[in-house]
Amino acid sequence: MYFQLFALLVILIGIILVNKKRRKLPPGPVGIPILGYLPFLGKVPSLTVAELAKKYGDIMSVYFGQYLVVFINDVDLMKEIGKIDVFLGRNQLELMKPIRENCGLIFLEEKGWQEWRRFTLKSLKDMGFGKNSMEGLIQDQVEDFCSFLKRNVNSPIYLKDPIEVAVINSLWIILAGEKYDIEDPEKREILKLMNEAFSDQDILGITAFLPWLARLFPVSTGYSKGLQCLGAPLNLGKTILAQHKEKYGPGQEKDFIDLALTKIYETTDPASSFYKDVGLKNLVFTVLDIFYTGSDTVSSTLGWAFLAAASFPETQWKLQKEIDEVVGREKIPSLMDKSKMVYTEAFMFEVLRKSSMVPFGVMHTALEDAEFHGFFFPKRTILLWNLYGVHHDEKHWGDPHVFRPERFINPDGSLRKDDHLVPFFTGKRNCPGDSLAINEFFMFLTGVLQRFNVELEDPKTMPDFGQRPGFILKPPAHKLMFTERSAMKCRLDKAG
Ligand code: HEM
Repeated sequence: MYFQLFALLVILIGIILVNKKRRKLPPGPVGIPILGYLPFLGKVPSLTVAELAKKYGDIMSVYFGQYLVVFINDVDLMKEIGKIDVFLGRNQLELMKPIRENCGLIFLEEKGWQEWRRFTLKSLKDMGFGKNSMEGLIQDQVEDFCSFLKRNVNSPIYLKDPIEVAVINSLWIILAGEKYDIEDPEKREILKLMNEAFSDQDILGITAFLPWLARLFPVSTGYSKGLQCLGAPLNLGKTILAQHKEKYGPGQEKDFIDLALTKIYETTDPASSFYKDVGLKNLVFTVLDIFYTGSDTVSSTLGWAFLAAASFPETQWKLQKEIDEVVGREKIPSLMDKSKMVYTEAFMFEVLRKSSMVPFGVMHTALEDAEFHGFFFPKRTILLWNLYGVHHDEKHWGDPHVFRPERFINPDGSLRKDDHLVPFFTGKRNCPGDSLAINEFFMFLTGVLQRFNVELEDPKTMPDFGQRPGFILKPPAHKLMFTERSAMKCRLDKAG
């Protein structure tokens, strides 16, 4: 009898404690059983979330399927939480487990993540990030890209594939020591599959939160395709690794993979994420992680930038005027010129703000039960960052839906850095490729507009520069027309 009473008491206390914790979850909209709020996200989730944030505040929770997701809607809170270790987890969604096995920089957590993050940052730096050699590599790719444009002047073209190859090449040389040979059918296919994986309806999209549905209907939900898209590059990674192992010689490291092999061969601690087979698996996935994140993001940003320059010709003329004044027409633009080109930097900031290509950042998870600003985050809560909302907050920007680079220029003509612009997120797990991305963005943009004008195929059908569906906001497929800038005089001078 006493035992039953005691057991009942323990259960009651348990229920009270659980409820107490539940009560402290951040506020948010109620969804429906099983699906949670997913059916109400609408075609453009970034807009729906921005609207919800106005109602529920800066920390808001919602269920996506079985997953508890907390959205952080305020930039100061993002900065604060981005520094807290317990919120630096990144558990993969169930659907990706058959492929990823929790390996590689993007999905590693805790000690393993720290080890690979430190190693990656240092090795990429040693291999040329931020150095003159890197600048030379990018310049070569800009030259190749301009030759492509020259062969295609006066005829409307899709830019996506050529930009992508140009951006991938400089990255692949650093990672694997060779150009990414797009003529090779296997590599061409991989690029195609990667694009499909990260398209508007990507595997990381809504069905990722409904694993049971994906398993029940693998074809119609796109799950089979998603696995194929994410699996194919893995074979490339394994082949490249095998080739590197064959040619490897200590002290002769010439790329990122060689450096990692040295580290793996030197590691004797079985608990290390560099140890033997675990180390090799982490290497393959880390190379692929940098490949995906470093190519698609930069090429899409350039896609948005050329679309903006074509859609708002006056911004293009101002860019060209500045290029003419600071760089001229003879020499290739270099990174040394960047600090003197305020309008160009302001234009780049505005493209990053307006496109908000990664509208919710990349999810983090709580590694343990945790508290933040009085709210309870159960272990494994998913955290998403409402970067789109921050970049389009009317209270801060005034006219967020207008494309206006001047918002980043002070009245005295200097560049105005705005801490509400966070395309690379912030804190300990922010984007490690931010400076490479900015450097590539600058060199391609200025290298092309120095020599070419860009126009919409049909100015009457201006594409929507605003809202896009999905969890990765790529520029809409649109043909652009390039013409050579032959006259020395800039069009802005003529207009003005
Ligand atoms: C305009 C271009 C880019 C944008 C907007 C962008 C944005 C982001 C964002 C929002 C994150 C998530 C940060 C977090 O979880 O806290 C991220 C992570 C990451 N990015 Fe980028 N990125 C860009 C370019 C690049 C480039 C060029 C590289 C490669 C060199 C790169 C490599 C990575 C990696 C490896 C991570 C995962 C870091 C980790 O988990 O520790 N990104 N990026």
